[in-house]
Amino acid sequence: MRITVLTLFPEMYHDFLHTSIIGRAVERGLVTVDFVQIRDFAHDNYRHVDDRPFGGGRGQVMKCQPVLDALNSVETENSYSLMMSPLGTVYNQAKAHELSEKDHLILLCGHYEGLDARINKHVDELVSIGDYVLTGGEMASMVIMDSVIRLLKGSITEGSAEEESYENGLLEYPQYTQPADYEGDKVPDILLSGNHARIREWRLEQSILTTKERRPDLYEKHNFTEEEKKVLKKMKKEGLLD
Ligand code: ADE
Repeated sequence: MRITVLTLFPEMYHDFLHTSIIGRAVERGLVTVDFVQIRDFAHDNYRHVDDRPFGGGRGQVMKCQPVLDALNSVETENSYSLMMSPLGTVYNQAKAHELSEKDHLILLCGHYEGLDARINKHVDELVSIGDYVLTGGEMASMVIMDSVIRLLKGSITEGSAEEESYENGLLEYPQYTQPADYEGDKVPDILLSGNHARIREWRLEQSILTTKERRPDLYEKHNFTEEEKKVLKKMKKEGLLD
């Protein structure tokens, strides 16, 4: 996969692209990341990329010409372009999977008070990473890159993504490691039992309970599998769930 980031601040990405799982994926060549400095496409003497908003108001707005010239310089038939924007569709794991199948992602990052609205129609999609406002799209683009790159084949151990939160519509069960007793706070006995069938069932129960408690919105819209329905029935019988 290739990812091209259009930004005024490419230096923000250095540590992110050289650390941990993402650093390894880049090193192994699973993804190549390149940057386009939007300012390189500004042609006036002061290399202005922004100007005051028509109609008044605070801040500066990024201009059409440098941004669209930057975008055109990297777009090909295989590109899929995303603008980071608080106006976008809220990002989720399903979208991460969808994007991980693309050949070439272009991530356009605005800064200051945002981008001229006429730019919107030149990208495939507007994406928001949540209901809050950032100073620019750079952090949002890193969130998207992180969640997409870790899904690329060879990035993390095969199968280890499947049991995670959001992958099956439920939150992940609680995980524990050594010591089994931390200052009197003990790991649930079942995890030390070696009974893998019971452990699997316990984990499913915990996923269901955690999701219901922490994210009732996800719980309400979840399509329970046959295995989950069986566990639900048992939990209700045992009074773990009403
Ligand atoms: N730019 C500013 N806020 C943003 C958000 N929440 N998501 C994506 N891009 C943004």
